Order: sequence, then structure tokens, then C-alpha cells
Amino acid sequence: MNTNTVSQLLAKDQFGQEIEINGWVRTFRAKRFIALNDGSTINNIQCVVDFENTDEDTLKRITTGAAVHIKGELVESQGKGQKVEIAVKSIEILGDSDPETYPIQPKKHSFEFLRENAHLRTRTSTFSAIMRLRSSLSFAVHKYFNENGFYYMHTPIITGSDAEGAGEMFRVTNLDAKNPPLTEEGKVDFKEDFFGSETNLTVSGQLEAETYAMSLGKVYTFGPTFRAENSNTSRHLSEFWMIEPEVAFMDLAGNMDLAEDFMKSVINYILENNREDLEFLETRLLDEEKTKPQAERSEMSLIEKLKFVVDNNFKRVSYTEAIDILRNSKPNKKKKFNYIIEEWGADLQSEHERFLVEKHFKCPVILFDYPANIKAFYMRLNEDGKTVRAMDILFPGIGEIVGGAQREERLEVLKEKMAALDMPEEELWWYLDLRKYGTAVHSGFGLGFERLVMFATGMTNIRDVIPYPRTPQNAEF
Ligand code: 4AD
Ligand code: MG
Repeated sequence: MNTNTVSQLLAKDQFGQEIEINGWVRTFRAKRFIALNDGSTINNIQCVVDFENTDEDTLKRITTGAAVHIKGELVESQGKGQKVEIAVKSIEILGDSDPETYPIQPKKHSFEFLRENAHLRTRTSTFSAIMRLRSSLSFAVHKYFNENGFYYMHTPIITGSDAEGAGEMFRVTNLDAKNPPLTEEGKVDFKEDFFGSETNLTVSGQLEAETYAMSLGKVYTFGPTFRAENSNTSRHLSEFWMIEPEVAFMDLAGNMDLAEDFMKSVINYILENNREDLEFLETRLLDEEKTKPQAERSEMSLIEKLKFVVDNNFKRVSYTEAIDILRNSKPNKKKKFNYIIEEWGADLQSEHERFLVEKHFKCPVILFDYPANIKAFYMRLNEDGKTVRAMDILFPGIGEIVGGAQREERLEVLKEKMAALDMPEEELWWYLDLRKYGTAVHSGFGLGFERLVMFATGMTNIRDVIPYPRTPQNAEF
């Protein structure tokens, strides 16, 4: 059967051609005009029903949400806004909808309402555009690494280690929660557990990726990661996707170059390949902006923001410089920040990150050389003995989008660091082995994929850029 997609048909101009198409009815107007969508594009194709020759029962069943199969002829459109339309010759209702109860009515719905109907929300233009962009971005990620000599590595999802040392993990077990086996000291005996030891869902594939970087040279992992942190913010998920490249013989400066080039490349990919979806989301945002007071409106449109990132250098600023800027900033002096920056060593909150990016530098910023004690154990200690070769990339509207570092490659220094944090060497013996056998400078970073999708779509809640968000108290669907 020669069935076409809406996207294919809208690009055609062979009028008079017989065509067949499947899709869902978005709207049905005046017993005549169906706006049909099949997910292949943001645009609907108009299908004009010959109502005099269509039986009354079928006409009644053409309702918003119904699945239909249409045979007809491609004709030049008489109406405005489209070049082609379909003169319907026959229409078959494949799946009825119920106009009384179908949640996705052709009107504006709140994002909260659509989250409760996440199984149907991609039938709206906004969410279909977001998810097509998500798909494109993920393809662009693989394309970039593939074209740049990286191997795709599948790091394990079940692991025994806590890569970030933050203890925010989901336990994986098949022990009986009501009656677990106990050790002589009365603690849960994980030797009896499925894997014979304590395991959890991974918070990051980095440590395993490092092992492969130290043999294959350039690798990346792109998979789901899990954090049991109880942060109910618009930027945190309990399950999110992370992209983590890891490269041997690369220092922090190389890491910054890679991250910047990579991010520009994937954003450029959607500018070139997802224009219609971006234009739709841009218009949506412009409408939303109109409801805000002038002072809060964004200076750039969505596409302008994306182009800005592609065309401009990210500003590279050391943590120490950033602290000086923040300490002397207006919101700090006027005590407008929730957390006032008083001295060097303070951890940066998202309000500070956003001040630097949105108010001070007005461009993406790479902050580097953070104090050792606010960063993870694996980061390379600098010669000053107090900072580490960490880098965070901060984006406008998002805050931290990337976290990475040059890794500590010196066995003794790493051991000391772990000892100071009470991390038992036995648990990471294989990680330490990398420093024993052929150690070398190496670096990598983690990009939170959903934060990238937020930036690319202009969405402000991370729950709206992943199909089925997992957050504290919520794992519906
Ligand atoms: O800064 P993070 O914690 O870094 C790591 O996990 C390193 N092991 C990465 C590496 O060097 N290979 O996380 C990296 C990024 C953050 O910058 C953020 O974009 C995202 O992951 N992220 C989250 N995204 C959504 N929800 C959460 N709860 C997130 N936590 C981190
Ligand atoms: Mg981080």
C-alpha cells in the first residue's frame, strides 16, 4: 500500500495524484474540513470531506482524536495557509474517539493538565514538537561523537559504586523488605542479596567510562541516570539522561573545547533540521512573553538564542573570578540573593549561576577551577592544593547544564582524597587500577540531556521535556 505521511504530502505538488493517508483528527470544521496529523510534522494537512456523499454515521464519528484512513486526491488548496490539501474520496474510521471525554480538546491546555495526561500530550502541537526535537538532538549527539572518533559505550545501570559520592541513590535489591536477612550485628546482610553486595541505580556512567577511555581513547556514554535527591525543582528529575564523553590524554582546556564544540554542533543540527518545530515553539513563547511585564520579557527569541550560542564563544571564567564578581554584585550587596556570597569557598547556588550568565556575562559561561571541597573526589587537584580542575557550563535560563573535570590521574593523590572522605579503597579497586597501570591525563564531562532539551525548546519545566518524568512522589505511567 502506498501510504504517505503528512510531511511527504505537504511537500508535494503533483496535483491530481491519488493518495492514501492515516492519521488522527485534530479538528473537524463545518462537516467539511479535517485537520489531520500523523506526527511526521508540526503541520496538519487539510482533508476536505465531500459531506453530501458521506454517510451521516461516518460524519458523526469524525471527531477530535479519532484515527482515520483516508483515500483521496491531492489538490491545490483553495484556502489560505497551505499549498496542498486532500479531496477526500473515502474515509474509514480506524479508531473512534469520544468527544465527551477525550482530554485533548482543540483549545489551550495548561502544562499541569497535560502532565496528568502525559500519555496523550504528544497529540498537541507543542509536545509533538518538543519530542521531535528531543529525538533529533539525541541523533545529533550520536552523529557528533561518531564523526569525531568516539566509541559509544553502554555503561551499566546497576552498579555498586557512588560515582558522585553524594549518597543519593536508589537501592536495587530483591531482599524481602519486611524480613531481610540480618548479620550478627543486626544489620541487613547484603551478602544474601541478589548480587551478593549492595547495589544501586547508577548516578553517572563516568567511572566505568574512564576505564574504556584508558584503552579505547575516546568514548561516550548516553543513558539513563538516577538520583534520589529530594529536590522538587523545575530543573531536577529522579531519572534523567546524561551524555558523558571521556577522553584519554586530554586536559581541562581540551575538555572545555570539546564541550563547547559539541554543544554548538548539536544545537546547530536542530537549527538546520527542525526549523518548523522551532518556529512553532518560538511563536508559542512570543505569545507567552506578551502576557509578561516588559522588564521580564526575553531580549531574544528562541531561534535567536540558539543562534547566539552557536555563533559566540563561551566565556571562560575561574571560580575565583566569579566569586569576586558575585561578591561585588548588586543583588549580593542589597541582600537580594537567598544565599549571600561572603567568602571564597562558597558553593554556588542556581541564583548565582543565573546572575553570572543572564545579567553579568549575557552568554554561556564555563566556570573552572573550583574549590576542592565542594566538588567530587575524582577531580584533579591543582598545584595550589586547594582547587580542582573542575568545569561547569552555565546556560541562560537553565543554570548548570554541564559538569565535568580533568580526572585525578595520580594514584597517591587519589588515595589520599578517598581516605579523607572515608571511601574504602576495596570498593573502587578497579578505578584505582587505572592509576596503577598506564595512568595518563584524562578528562570528561556530563551533559544533562533534559536541560539541553529545555534550552532548545524554551520550556521552563524539566517535566515537560521527557516523555514520562520521574520526580519525588511521582512515577505515573
Ligand atoms: O554535575 P553532575 O552531577 O556530574 C556528573 O555526574 C559527572 N559524573 C559527569 C561527568 O563528568 N561525566 O551532572 C552532570 C549534569 C549536570 O550538569 C546537569 O545538567 C545534569 O547532569 N543533572 C541533572 N539533570 C536533571 N535532573 C537531575 N537531578 C540532575 N542532576 C544532574
Ligand atoms: Mg554538577
